[in-house]
Amino acid sequence: MRKHHLRYLACPGCKGDLTLAAVEQGDAESIQSGLLVCERCPAEYRIVNHIPRFVPLENYASGFGYEWTMHARTQYDSYSGRNISEQRFFKETQWPRDLAGRSILEVGSGSGRFTEQAASTGAMVVSVDYSYAVEANYASNGAKPNVLIVQGDVYSLPVRKNSFDYLFCFGMLQHTPDVKKAFMELPKYLKKGGRLAVDVYIKTTSLKRFLPSYYWARPLTKHVQPDRLYKIVRRYVTIMWPLAKLINKLPKGRMINRMLLIADYRGRFDLGEEMLKEWAILDTFDGLSPAYDNPQTLETMQQWFQEAGLSQCEVHFGFNGIEGRGIR
Ligand SMILES: C[S@@+](CC[C@H](N)C(=O)[O-])C[C@H]1O[C@@H](n2cnc3c(N)ncnc32)[C@H](O)[C@@H]1O
Repeated sequence: MRKHHLRYLACPGCKGDLTLAAVEQGDAESIQSGLLVCERCPAEYRIVNHIPRFVPLENYASGFGYEWTMHARTQYDSYSGRNISEQRFFKETQWPRDLAGRSILEVGSGSGRFTEQAASTGAMVVSVDYSYAVEANYASNGAKPNVLIVQGDVYSLPVRKNSFDYLFCFGMLQHTPDVKKAFMELPKYLKKGGRLAVDVYIKTTSLKRFLPSYYWARPLTKHVQPDRLYKIVRRYVTIMWPLAKLINKLPKGRMINRMLLIADYRGRFDLGEEMLKEWAILDTFDGLSPAYDNPQTLETMQQWFQEAGLSQCEVHFGFNGIEGRGIR
């Protein structure tokens, strides 16, 4: 982290200002290891590998840490050569492409494919994730002068309240133990007039919910050590891949592959064969490993946007299931 980025941070417990008490390695422009202390309470937080850590390095989201270490670049546009993440970021947020002079808070950044997009606007981007996926994000985006990456928890974010112009949270809410509580935390960090964009998986209420899916296997697979589960998934997808290619050609082929626990993006994203397989391994693991996976209905999300006091709310089916925008 850079010393002058301290002004975006706050003690996650008491929201007091933080001071840089020690730099063990690095200098003010690039602090590799050091110590932050709260000016209001006795709390201390370490900077490890350039990243301020406000939560234990290992926690319930460690499966995601493993996932994004193994697939640190898989979904980056600058790796795939496609504009999949760019399209989703700008369509889902509906924010301008030039946000120089503004600030963006990202919650649940994973490997940082959307951090890359947010940073491209020229805004100052503070990017938070609970897992050690922050290391993968730092490797890709940490050197950018307008990016600060921190390891923190949505339930007690280590940033100042009422201080961001924009906030987005993609692919994260359903992976928290209390989705409503996590959602309700977000608007507090926006300035009045600040814009929120989130998405969440859909809770299926139709007969589809009786079809085989990740949700059948997850109660077992979420207990398997991430490295072991990953090996199993990689082997399974590799063995099934030629068959999945044939199944994809059948009517409802993608749905059948999903029932066979193969995340099949053929026909959806214009990716080469090897990349499609890489995405399949990533997303099959992503479906089977999370400690929490709590999808929501459209009605619930619409209600939460109202309860949060947001205005100009637009909540509808969209990217990742349900997407929602509102203004504080
Ligand atoms: C499916 S990934 C999405 C990553 C990224 N937004 C994307 O769409 O590529 C969900 C992320 O949410 C993070 N997460 C889960 N619980 C969290 C919490 N309590 N606070 C912050 N991040 C959390 C996980 O560590 C994980 O990286």
